[in-house]
Amino acid sequence: MPIRINQKWILLGLASSLYFLACRQGETVLPSEEVWYAREIPYFPPKNIPSDNQLTPERIALGKALFFDPILSRDSSLSCASCHKQEFAFADNKTKTPGIANRPGTRNVPVLFNLVYQDRFLREGSLPTLEMQVLVPIQEHNEFDFNIVDIADKLKLIPFYDSLAKLAYNREPDPFVITRSISAFERTLISADSKYDQVRLGKTKFNQTEELGYSLFKTFCASCHTEPLFTNHQNANNGLYVHYNDPGRYRFTKIPKDSGSFKIPSLRNIAFTAPYMHNGSLKDLDAVILHYNMGGQHGPNQDGRVQALNLNPTQKAALKAFLLTLSDYSFLNDPNFKP
Ligand code: HEC
Ligand code: HEC
Repeated sequence: MPIRINQKWILLGLASSLYFLACRQGETVLPSEEVWYAREIPYFPPKNIPSDNQLTPERIALGKALFFDPILSRDSSLSCASCHKQEFAFADNKTKTPGIANRPGTRNVPVLFNLVYQDRFLREGSLPTLEMQVLVPIQEHNEFDFNIVDIADKLKLIPFYDSLAKLAYNREPDPFVITRSISAFERTLISADSKYDQVRLGKTKFNQTEELGYSLFKTFCASCHTEPLFTNHQNANNGLYVHYNDPGRYRFTKIPKDSGSFKIPSLRNIAFTAPYMHNGSLKDLDAVILHYNMGGQHGPNQDGRVQALNLNPTQKAALKAFLLTLSDYSFLNDPNFKP
């Protein structure tokens, strides 16, 4: 079975390269706006693409094949997509998804989209590049428990990967190629087609309830979950606990006030990504709204912006209705992101 997939990919990879080479020779290269992965969203910030890893069809195809290939895990049982599922905006619907041999996960699986606009990764925001992040699941005992050098040795023996790596980066499928190509694929995961976006583009309007929810959102939530990405990419302690079992950013900085501080997640596609928070402890949006309405648990590091809101039932329902306008069904069904 994997062999059949591989052959299909070789053909696709070769065909697309030949096509692009042909275009270049005939000087009929498509203007970059027309290439799906180069799409710019007019109200989004600039993309963050490293100069040594510009996006090309071959790099994206290679990264996508690796993202869906269980060859990355020690016992070939899991791929990145086992935890990051398109139907849940590349998060999962479990509290904590286990790794190989059913080893328990430590945190709730985060979404993967609009990563090209970010420069801090993991729940505590401790890693500066996607390329570095790829190494984390590969090595973690409770994820793939493997070694990137061993993976590279396996990939070199597979003609599909060997030839596509050469087309994509002009080298063997080594750790450079593995980390770069997976990151290239991840940078194409752009979600910007929700009702909210349609409203922004003037193609539709919010109903009255959504409009009320939007104004409550702007008053109480947007300083952290900032438009248009619905995160300001900072960290905060949102008052989930007085004492956190997971120290969050403290794990990385050892600064006491960082205890319980986590990266502020995007709220785009929030309808699909329950359960919520770094540990998946809040089961649905009603539980989240209840948490913020009560103003958190008032631990020592709680951010001052999280305070009791005293919303009435109509206002709570409106806030939820607004959050549901952030659902992007075309992202969930985009064939570019399917194996
Ligand atoms: C066993 C489940 C599991 C597997 C398999 C897995 N991940 Fe993750 N992923 C997670 C969890 C949990 C986190 C949060 C980790 C943390 O914050 O410490 C995460 C975080 C991430 C992040 C950071 C997202 C952000 O916004 O900061 C990226 C990117 C990512 N994973 C990509 C991948 C890639 C690529 C693979 C395959 C090479 C992969 N993951 C495999 C569970 C998994
Ligand atoms: C002080 C900054 C701050 C404010 C204000 C804030 N949040 Fe958050 N929010 C966070 C942080 C940090 C997290 C992640 C906490 C964690 O992982 O444990 C979060 C998580 C969430 C989540 C879960 C996301 C996920 O993928 O798990 C939702 C939903 C959410 N907030 C909604 C809201 C709403 C609605 C408001 C306004 C009523 C709001 N937030 C106000 C910082 C904030």
